[in-house]
This record gives sequence, structure tokens and C-alpha cells, in this order.
Amino acid sequence: MIQTKENKMKGIILAGGSGSRLYPITKIYSKQLTLIYDKPLIYYPLSILMLGGIRELLIVSNEETIPLYEKLFGDGSQIGLSIEYVVQAAPNGIAEAFILGEKFIGDESVTLILGDNIFYGDLSFFYNALERQIGATIFGYQVSDPERYGIVEFNENGKAVSIEEKPAKPKSQFAVPGLYIFDNKVVGISKNLTPSARGELEITDVNRQYMEMDELHVEKISRGVAWLDTGTPEALLQASNFFGVIEDRQGLKVACIEEIALYKEFIDKQQFEKLVYSIPNSLYRDYLDKILNELDEQSIKTL
Ligand code: G1P
Repeated sequence: MIQTKENKMKGIILAGGSGSRLYPITKIYSKQLTLIYDKPLIYYPLSILMLGGIRELLIVSNEETIPLYEKLFGDGSQIGLSIEYVVQAAPNGIAEAFILGEKFIGDESVTLILGDNIFYGDLSFFYNALERQIGATIFGYQVSDPERYGIVEFNENGKAVSIEEKPAKPKSQFAVPGLYIFDNKVVGISKNLTPSARGELEITDVNRQYMEMDELHVEKISRGVAWLDTGTPEALLQASNFFGVIEDRQGLKVACIEEIALYKEFIDKQQFEKLVYSIPNSLYRDYLDKILNELDEQSIKTL
């Protein structure tokens, strides 16, 4: 059983964007629905929020894709969540999600994860950051191609001193992954942003403002954690292979949201059983069936 407390924090999954690099599939729906090995890409970031104990969620996407997410997740109650949806009319930037989500966020803090960001491994970096009450927490992850990301530079004391969006000459190799934890000030800050040269409300500008207020915490994610890219067909294939290998080796699924809901006690055994019976015959159902059958035999589970 994962020991993170249940969290009052709100969660946003931003799953829009034009995804033009993945054309033609993105002609019909957003890329976060494409298959990574055996489940839609969005299951992976959703599972991260669930593992953090976040149960009140908002999915932000384009008008065409929202009905598909609704079909996939409904109101989330079958897995012990509350999921709302809001349309982002155009890819106006990550920070727009906090404006669109203002009512949903209310007076709470909020964690935003990009619907195409995959993390795998020891998530204590995330669980620890969720404990922090004030300011913003973002992460730094070493990559080989820093010009493609938001980049954070640290001084000799490990403090973040600059943060730049897709710099031509990166000041470090530390990219900022699409997982951000903010206190409630993020809504006001986002509302006051002006669009960047690429016409977007940049999350990097939000982070920079927190840095200027001396309220930005940047935690490095260790090399043992995988943060996978899903921006290109090749990256999608690599991610599928990665999870195919792990799932095959262990006989355990990664990002199986029904399993997580059970082990986090978002749903009880009866609800889980009902859920399993509602799933059509498939390898996915076989897996959940096996968990159901083993439930009585084992009292302690690990995720
Ligand atoms: C966005 C952010 C960037 C961040 C990246 C992580 O980039 O703007 O700062 O490093 O997500 O995936 P984009 O998806 O717009 O290329």
C-alpha cells in the first residue's frame, strides 16, 4: 500500500495541444489518447496524480476530444475520483489551464500534469513536494536535448537562478518536466501573463514569477526515475517498448488506474468487483480479474 495521505489538492491534466508532430492521428483526436503499449497515454499521468492521493480532477482539452475523455472516464466515480472537463478552445499555453480552471481550483492548491508526460520509478520526489503548503514546486530532470524544454539553471548551492523556455543556448541540462505544484496564487499570476512570441501563456513565465518572489522550489529528480518523451512517433514507440518490457517481466501493469484506485482505497472490493465485471473480455480484464481473485488471499499489497 502506498502511504501518501489523501490530498485536498486539486489536479489538472492538460490534454490538448495541436500535436501536429503526430499527424495524422491528431487530425481526429488529441495525442494523449494514443496507445502506449496497452493503454491510452493519458492513463500514465492520471495514475501519477492518483498515486499522490489527488482525487478531484479537471481534464482540459479541445472541443473534439473532451467527449472521448468523457466516454473513457465519465465522472470518475467508478474509480473513486471526481472528474470535471473544460474546453481549451485553442492551444493558448499551459498557464491558460489555471484561468479555465479558476472555479474548479477555488481556494485550493493545484497540481498540473501534462497529459503526455510519463514518469516511472520512485515517486517520492513528488510525494514529498505535495507536503509543501506555500509557493511552487517544479522539478529538474537531466536530458540530452535541453533546447526542447523549459530549462532551469542552479547556482553552486543548488538554488534555481534562471528559468528559460526552449533556450537556443541552454544554461544547463536540467529540463523542467510537465508536473507542477502551485499554491492558489497561480490563478492570479496566470491571469496577468502576456502571451509569449509563440502566442502562448507560458508555464515558464509563471515559474519565473514564483522565482522572483523567492517562492520557487526546484527539486532534482534522480536519474533512477524515467521521465519519458512522447512528442514523436519514435518516442511513442520507445515508451511502448519500455512498458512492454516491464509489464511482461513483472506480470504487473503500470498505470492501471483501476488497480491504483483499489490499492489507494479510493474504492472498496465490491466497487472493484463491479468495475471488473463491466469491462469486456480482454487481457486488461484478465489482469484485473486476477487481482480480484487474489484479494482474499493477500492482505498486504504493493504498488
Ligand atoms: C512544455 C513546457 C516546457 C516543458 C515541457 C515538458 O513544452 O512549455 O517548459 O519543459 O512542456 O514536457 P511544450 O510541450 O510546449 O513543447
